[in-house]
Order: sequence, then structure tokens, then C-alpha cells
Amino acid sequence: MKIPFMRLDRQYALHKNEILSICDNVFSHGKVLQGKEVESLENKLSEIHRAKHSVAVNSGTDALYFALLSLGVLPGDKVIVPSLSFIASASPVERIGAIPVFVDSTLQYHSDIDQIINRIKKDDIKCVIFVHLYGELVDLSSLYEECKKYNVILIEDGAQALGSVNGDYILGDNSDAATLSFDPMKIAGAYGSGGAVITKSDFIQEEIVKLRYHGRDVNRHYINLGYNSQMSSLQAAIIEFKIKKMTHWTNKRINISKKYESYISGGMIAPKENNNITHVYHKYAIRCTENNRDEIKSHLSRLGIQTMIHYEKPIYAEPMFASYKLDKNQFPVTEKLTNELLSLPIYPELLDEEVDFVGVSLSKFS
Ligand SMILES: Cc1ncc(COP(=O)(O)O)c(C=O)c1O
Repeated sequence: MKIPFMRLDRQYALHKNEILSICDNVFSHGKVLQGKEVESLENKLSEIHRAKHSVAVNSGTDALYFALLSLGVLPGDKVIVPSLSFIASASPVERIGAIPVFVDSTLQYHSDIDQIINRIKKDDIKCVIFVHLYGELVDLSSLYEECKKYNVILIEDGAQALGSVNGDYILGDNSDAATLSFDPMKIAGAYGSGGAVITKSDFIQEEIVKLRYHGRDVNRHYINLGYNSQMSSLQAAIIEFKIKKMTHWTNKRINISKKYESYISGGMIAPKENNNITHVYHKYAIRCTENNRDEIKSHLSRLGIQTMIHYEKPIYAEPMFASYKLDKNQFPVTEKLTNELLSLPIYPELLDEEVDFVGVSLSKFS
């Protein structure tokens, strides 16, 4: 059986008529950039996040960059970033000329909050970027309180966590701004790039609206340096269509995760979610704990199951951060996780027999 890591082709085949009709609508009215579909998506994102504002931009990376700029992070400022995430959780800091301050992870995969709080108290930290990795929304209420006490900005990188909740808490509740990505691999992926910033602040919303289009204000004056990061109307309409499917799709991902968990035993550990959390399982990353990841990956590959590693290296170990000469001994958990983590295929279009096949194949590994 061949089980690719993603099956966007299958998703398209299932929803071809709706997607083609969205294309036809947008192409027929012709306002292909910043059309009414973009405003509609922004309203939808604000509604589901109980947020005052959402601003759509052209990628999750730009969303983080614009959030940092609009919150006043300047060259030379210190910004706490995760050591285990996609590079874009830290690279916008470098783009500003600010200084990334990496923290270690916990075995729950996310950044160590105690370590962040210690750094906030001791170092002159301007901002924290916290990533809700793999789709698990971490409760940041205590971290946000500390940040406010020490006048530190908190940004949530929610690129992988659209639709995730933690008790009553939702993305954007406990931070100055939260960002999303609609990269094609994401829960509600565009057929291209897309991102958004969610915020309670009128000021941040106004700044990002200017930043995304050449620094232009409502009177069409070019006030300050901006960029071209508009979302296309077509992508906005497709993302909104997928958001409407999201609850159903997330339930499918959760059911797949439960099935996988029931097959995972010796030499592997399934991801553990806390009770209150709706983990959206953007990624299902197991730990291969007996120095056995390569063997497990090859075993699954021989059976036709494609797996991936998120992430091959800690972010600080990527060449672009080499100049900081960081000592990997400061990050024992991230080092361990980057040697252990293996992501299994997880998407709503997986068939029951395919999920079972992955599970049985895992349980046959010895
Ligand atoms: C955690 C995280 N942050 C940021 C990004 C950047 O988003 P984009 O690819 O839309 O620029 C991604 C996307 O892959 C991501 O996974």
C-alpha cells in the first residue's frame, strides 16, 4: 500500500466542484487582489478567535514580521524564540536585525515556559515568540501575566494551530498578537501562500494594513515603508471554504491520532495531549526513543508509508544562525527531540484501512 505524507490531490478530487466554483466566482468579478473575499475571511477569522481584528497577508512569515514591526521591535532588541519549530518562527527576528534568544523545549515539544520567564526576569528581553507546535494550543495565561509585568511583548505563532482550543482559551486570548499560516500543508491551506495576524489592538491592525501594501493609509498616502503582501481574493475564498470544513476535518485527525496511539508501544512514544486541549494534529509526531528513528523510518518506507522529520535540526543549528555560536549543551531537550521525532501521515482524507495499515506496520516494528 502506498501512503504519501500528504494527499492534496485527494482533497481536491473530493471538493473539486466547490473549488472550481470559487475560482469561477472570483475570476468573473475580477477583483483578484484584496477583494471582498479577503474581508470576508478576515471577519471569519475574527469571529472564530473572538478577536477584534484579523488582517490577511501573503504568508505566515510576513504575518510574524509585520507583528514584530507593528509592536515596535527594533534592530538590536532581544527576542525569545523557540529552538524547535519551522525556521520562520525565528527568521523574521533576524530580518528586523533584532537578536534571537533561543530557549530549550520540554518533552511536550513546546518551548520551556519556566525558562522563558527566567530569561524575561534576568535579560533585557523586548519580545517573546511562542509557537503552538504541531497544533497543540498551550495555555499562555501565566506567561502573558509575566510578560505584562516586565513590559515584554508576547506574540503567538499559531501557524500550525488554527482551530485548536485549550479549555476556554483560544489563540490570541493571551498575547499582543497571534499569527496564522495558510501554507498548502496547513489545516486550512491555500493553493499558494497566505497568512494572517489576529489582534485586539486597533493600532496593530492599522499598522499591518499599511505594511501589507506599501505603507499606504486610508487616504491613499504612502506614509511609511511598506511591502507588497496582499492576499489574493481566490486564496481567501478557498481558505474560508476550508475553514468551514475544519471542525469535521479536525475530528477526523483526532480519530486518526487515537487509532495511531492504540498501536504505539515499545521503543516509541505517542504525543500526549493535556485533558483540556483540542489538539488539531497539524502534525502527528511520535518519539522514537531507542536510537531507532532511522530503522523505524526505513521499515515504514519499505511498506510504502512516507514519514517526515519535523525538524531535522534545532533552529539555532541552521547555518543562518551560526554566527551566534550557541552551545548545544544549553538545549538538551531540543537536541534529544530532533534525534527522536518522526511525523506520521495525518490528514482527513486518509482511509480507515490506510490508518490501520500504518498502525499495524508500526506495531510490527521490533
Ligand atoms: C510554526 C510555523 N511558523 C511560521 C510558518 C510560516 O508560514 P508561511 O509558510 O505561511 O510563511 C510556518 C509555516 O510553515 C510554521 O509552520
